[in-house]
Amino acid sequence: MNYDIANPDLAEVGARRIAWAGRRMQVLETVRSRFREEKPLNGHVVAACLHVTAETANLMLALRDGGAEPILCASNPLSTQDDVAAALVAEEIPVFAIRGEDDSTYYKHINAALDHAPAVTMDDGADLATLLHTDRRDIEVIGSTEETTTGVIRLRAMAADGTLRVPVVAVNDSATKHLFDNHYGTGQSTLDGIIRASNILLAGQNVVVVGFGDCGRGVASRADGLGAKVIVVEVDPVRALSAAMSGYRVMTAADAAEAGDVFITVTGNKHVLRMEHFNKMRDGVILANSGHFDIELDLASLRAESTGRRQVRENLEEFDMPDGRRILLAAEGRLVNLGAAEGHPADVMDMSFSNQALAAEYLVVNQDTLEPKIYTLPPEIDEQVASIKLSHLGGGLETLTQDQKEYLSGWQEGT
Ligand SMILES: NC(=O)c1ccc[n+]([C@@H]2O[C@H](COP(=O)([O-])OP(=O)(O)OC[C@H]3O[C@@H](n4cnc5c(N)ncnc54)[C@H](O)[C@@H]3O)[C@@H](O)[C@H]2O)c1
Repeated sequence: MNYDIANPDLAEVGARRIAWAGRRMQVLETVRSRFREEKPLNGHVVAACLHVTAETANLMLALRDGGAEPILCASNPLSTQDDVAAALVAEEIPVFAIRGEDDSTYYKHINAALDHAPAVTMDDGADLATLLHTDRRDIEVIGSTEETTTGVIRLRAMAADGTLRVPVVAVNDSATKHLFDNHYGTGQSTLDGIIRASNILLAGQNVVVVGFGDCGRGVASRADGLGAKVIVVEVDPVRALSAAMSGYRVMTAADAAEAGDVFITVTGNKHVLRMEHFNKMRDGVILANSGHFDIELDLASLRAESTGRRQVRENLEEFDMPDGRRILLAAEGRLVNLGAAEGHPADVMDMSFSNQALAAEYLVVNQDTLEPKIYTLPPEIDEQVASIKLSHLGGGLETLTQDQKEYLSGWQEGT
């Protein structure tokens, strides 16, 4: 079996972490037991470009139980958990991922996954799908799935300009993905990453959240809960207003730059904080990014204009500015929750990855009718995923009476 990982000896530690995560992924377990019976992915190679974490490992095992041959490569050079990679290789699942790999190794690994001629590709950020439309047009797939907002935006741009040549299931569009993973997952794990990187107390700090979308709302509310004074920077007036009515201060990036102690970008956009902002920041501020790519902060300029730099803690680098101020950067400006912590907790990846497994099945089952466009999973899948998760949280679900159903679908009854 072909693979490229850091250290196969870490397999036992990785297996323990995978098993622990699996215990909190009850929805995926439900999908998995059906997959064991029905084998809906029989014989299909599924190449996944996802963060190589304990939760992803559980998805790979579920796909294999469904009859697929899964291959895994990393969707970020800094998010790979080397012990998990080793445990999957011990399970005879090919993995191409090493934490901290350089860009050329990263792309070598993505190409190695595609060399297995997948029938389905699974992305977190559309890197596999992009290659299918550029250097690897030799690969014909049934379809692709996409995990994150940034990937869906890129694929929608391909569909809009007529470039898209494969059907895509936008898993991020499922309610049980973006309303939970992006909000609660990113909210908690982003702060976890910043705390692990710096060990600062967030209470009393001015925390600037740039981007008040699904992720930003989660980050802001978790920071608020820890006692931080939250400032939001937004370009969308409705979202900015929603932040203001949630009790946060809303400012321009220029004003926030002067007021903040910790800056967190979650926009999916580029250079939302740049030199004109870095120049106004106080001595000792911490910068962190939780958006998909490491371009939300203009790091090239920060690196070029700094007069010195050093690693002050494992995932925290300090830059000296010409006027004597210091600016700290967590996890190289890459996804801080995966670079400096363990990514989203299994409890929430449970729903995202159940949707991923069901999306792969959807592509295989409907392959004869799908066109090269962006699909969303049917709402019944959301309802099913949410119901199973709710029952595991001990929640009871109310049902509509017949009378209520008729009232809600009629128009005659009024004042
Ligand atoms: N860290 C993780 O594990 C994780 C998880 C899910 C999504 N993501 C990524 O996080 C990013 C955000 O995802 P989302 O689902 O919240 O997206 P979203 O579209 O719901 O929200 C992004 C927000 O950023 C705002 N924005 C854009 N440019 C801005 C600018 N220059 N200044 C201020 N605000 C700006 C937009 O108006 C929008 O409200 C994406 O890149 C997504 O892929 C990361």
